[in-house]
Amino acid sequence: MDITLQQVIDVVRAAGSLFDRSGGFEIHDKGARENLVTSSDLAVQHFLTERLGALLPGSGFLCEEEALRDTAHREVWIIDPIDGTANYARGNENCAISVALVRDGLPFLGVVFSPWRDEVYAAERGRGAWCNGKPIRVSRRPFEDGILFTAMSTYRKEFARSCSDIIYDIYMDCNDVRRTGSAAVELCLMAAGFAELYFEMRLMPWDYAAAGLILQEAGGAICGFDGDFPSLSRPSMVLAANDGPNCERLLQTVRRHLDRLPY
Ligand code: IPD
Ligand code: CA
Ligand code: CA
Repeated sequence: MDITLQQVIDVVRAAGSLFDRSGGFEIHDKGARENLVTSSDLAVQHFLTERLGALLPGSGFLCEEEALRDTAHREVWIIDPIDGTANYARGNENCAISVALVRDGLPFLGVVFSPWRDEVYAAERGRGAWCNGKPIRVSRRPFEDGILFTAMSTYRKEFARSCSDIIYDIYMDCNDVRRTGSAAVELCLMAAGFAELYFEMRLMPWDYAAAGLILQEAGGAICGFDGDFPSLSRPSMVLAANDGPNCERLLQTVRRHLDRLPY
């Protein structure tokens, strides 16, 4: 019998009990002072790899922590144990567990669970997207009324000037800008209609694999610099919007500034 979305949601929800809002965890940096890992990131990742591996024997893993890359499998779990670790370390609710199941190279299931927001966003390819079991849908606002989620390339600050030039151009054409500090949460908020536009210069597959599927299944669009779904194996630019034309307009704005990715 095939794995069900509910089985994955149950495992991810159980992993959420490892989130600790009392601050009783260790914090280390990963070589740069803004790039943090906590003992909770590791505990959540260990829990998920054990439980999801048991659910789907023979599946592989691509996980943020401990350089876990075992991807030569038909089915691969792409996991960010805590997306928004800087928020997590401060007890800020904008952090989430992100789990995608990729089958034959395409995201098939996606679950983003934000324990302190008490929100489970989930999607199954071709079947739709839900928040806490209720169907979600992108907004129908035009680009000019759009809210843009974006950031300044937190871990590669050499791209910040280029980001700010691109963000400036988008900002002048839309309504306003937001930044929560969790790409997965932001893409899910777009899926639920709370924002319309998204630009990040460089993210990793575990930041967007699950939430990208959730956004697509809610009617939105997501792509990298080449216009296809962002890479599931390498870092990627991420552009996303509440519909295809708005996503294409973001891509055209980016291409006025860059003729290729700067990494
Ligand atoms: C980060 C968050 C943030 C994004 C960073 C990501 P992390 O993930 O998604 O919103 O701007 O680029 O790396 O490091 O907290 O898992
Ligand atoms: Ca992340
Ligand atoms: Ca993370």
